[in-house]
Amino acid sequence: MSDPDELLVQPGGSLGGTVQVPGDKSISHRAVMLGALGDGVTEIRECLLGEDVRATMGAFRALGITIDEHEGGRLIRVHGRGLRGLTAPREVIDMGNSGTSIRLLTGILCGHGLAATLTGDASLRGRPMRRVTDPLAQMGANIATASNGTPPLVIAANPGLRGITFPLPVASAQVKSAVLLAGLFAAGETTVIEPAPTRDHTERMLAGCGVALSVEGPRVSLVGGQRLGPSTITVPADLSSAAFFIVGATISPDSDLLLTNVGVNPTRTGVLSVLAQMGAHIERLNERSIGGEPVADLRVRSAALHGVDVDPALVPLAIDEFPILFIAAACARGITRVRGAAELRHKESDRIATMAAGLTAAGLSVTTFEDGIEIEGGQLRGATVDSHGDHRIAMAFAIAALRASGPLRIRNAAPIATSFPSFVPLARAAGLRL
Ligand code: S3P
Repeated sequence: MSDPDELLVQPGGSLGGTVQVPGDKSISHRAVMLGALGDGVTEIRECLLGEDVRATMGAFRALGITIDEHEGGRLIRVHGRGLRGLTAPREVIDMGNSGTSIRLLTGILCGHGLAATLTGDASLRGRPMRRVTDPLAQMGANIATASNGTPPLVIAANPGLRGITFPLPVASAQVKSAVLLAGLFAAGETTVIEPAPTRDHTERMLAGCGVALSVEGPRVSLVGGQRLGPSTITVPADLSSAAFFIVGATISPDSDLLLTNVGVNPTRTGVLSVLAQMGAHIERLNERSIGGEPVADLRVRSAALHGVDVDPALVPLAIDEFPILFIAAACARGITRVRGAAELRHKESDRIATMAAGLTAAGLSVTTFEDGIEIEGGQLRGATVDSHGDHRIAMAFAIAALRASGPLRIRNAAPIATSFPSFVPLARAAGLRL
């Protein structure tokens, strides 16, 4: 019997047809969260129903919010209870694998002043949380972590936070968002200053809910106590999920693939910039805006790639796409170098080490650094690779089979369901041999 936690992908093939990948994970989390804090019912269309967003939905249900699903999951209604309408949870809240859920919810719970304990799976319990607990403590919150700054997070009730001005030590949209969400409840003004641009979905969605916030270059400020209106949100298809198909169609011969309704917010499109520099053919068609987010259809055709030195300024704009970009690099002529990417070591797995191990097993020559990697393109061979429970690494190696000389067996593939539950059927329909 085949192991449900293992993927076996046969080599070769090409990708074609039209694919709409599921809704954007970052936007879906925020839609549920801001809907819960809104006055009235927020309707979310095309919400991602992967395990991570389900963890956010479960958390808000535990906080007294009714969330119901209609039209087979294509429409979600979040019955918001206003800015201070959450109730203290009776039990520990388990955020599973989801860093966005735990970090943003910590900001909301501290802002609200509610006591709660938040935990997650083994991967999440290994991830750094001081980056959010430190600024929240400066605002007046009291949060205990495990001794190395990891979950569980034990949040004490508090009588109210005060606004701060916080220069972010790392370029992180999760930290920015956690502080801004806490700032919604705080006395006075809360300002975050980013060292480099990161995804701005929180700012766009807050504005869409009627919150006045000011964005001046790297500074984002809002005054606490503002009410959020309910909204109607259509979630664009997730560029981070589309990226697997974009690279797959690029590296495999005779491919011609159309990806529809893809979010192309400029704080997310680093992957498209890097691939264009490597020689990819990606056309943006039908560019439009859906609910405050830019969206396009992307037509991708096969191309011969060459190695590049990735501009460190693009790293935060492509932060989730490096596993699949490393597969593009493996299929390119020459060497690709990525530096200034130490954050990759703090994702669902240490993505520098996990990708290097998999690429080496598949016969490539790689050199790793604390903050990056050098990959020399070459012939991938059949191999067994371990995703270390990291959804994006499992999907990246599945796509790599398009150019491998033998089958790729991927261990620990079940976490694909955290961000892209329909990956296997969509990839199979497009031409991947799995
Ligand atoms: C996310 C921000 C990024 C990203 C994560 C989703 C978000 O994390 O890697 O997958 O939704 O804000 P960091 O803020 O830690 O860079």
